[in-house]
Amino acid sequence: MNPTVLKLGGSVITDKDRADTLDGATLNRVADAVSEGDAENLVLVHGGGSFGHHHASRHGVSTTAGTRDAGAAVDIHGAMKTLNEFVLARLHERDVPALPVHPFSAASRDSDATLVLPTRQVETMLGEGFVPVLHGDVVAHAGAGVTVVSGDELVVSLADQLDADRVGFCSTVPGVLDEDGSVIPEITAYEQAADVLGESESTDVTGGMAGKVRALLELGAPASIFGPDDVAAFLADETPGTRIDG
Ligand code: IPE
Repeated sequence: MNPTVLKLGGSVITDKDRADTLDGATLNRVADAVSEGDAENLVLVHGGGSFGHHHASRHGVSTTAGTRDAGAAVDIHGAMKTLNEFVLARLHERDVPALPVHPFSAASRDSDATLVLPTRQVETMLGEGFVPVLHGDVVAHAGAGVTVVSGDELVVSLADQLDADRVGFCSTVPGVLDEDGSVIPEITAYEQAADVLGESESTDVTGGMAGKVRALLELGAPASIFGPDDVAAFLADETPGTRIDG
């Protein structure tokens, strides 16, 4: 069985309008669903929410705007490690064998901004029955210093390299919504959803829903975007929310 990659959006597990604040209740619900679902061959990736984005924007760092200030890089990375520790703790409370993987320590971007993400440690963890938990982070970027790597980019790279057959994206909304607020069941081209994909209102240095859809359309495997109530359904092999298949 090939791995499943599930991203937990930063705005799902944090209070996106208050710096460095967890949404503990929603994180618990998601952790419950993971512990009750099939955690075999599961890779988790979480976003930055009010931890990563707040610090990245304070230092003027994004996926394209870099910094050469080591203190700024360590500040953003430190906020993401703190959030990662919270996520791991909630999973461990529920006996999910989660292990941290910090992209800053291993990944990089070349001068074309292409992400290079080694995955041997993730594959070994999976082989030993663990659940690797990666997160949006900062990475060294040739010619730019240090830039942000989003969880979406990590999902795309992991799904490709691990040949994932299922990719899930847990967002604050139950899927990509049309003008009437109904979930669009399937998106096969960006243009199809471009009109309804506004930019996210909170501080988000990596592009909001439009960026997520764009990233997921690039995947070799179909992906689903759904809300926190549908994590259990996704892990039970269903396709809740919006199916994105480029
Ligand atoms: C952002 O990751 C990471 C940093 C800002 C350091 P994401 O872009 O994946 O985060 P969310 O899911 O949008 O919050």
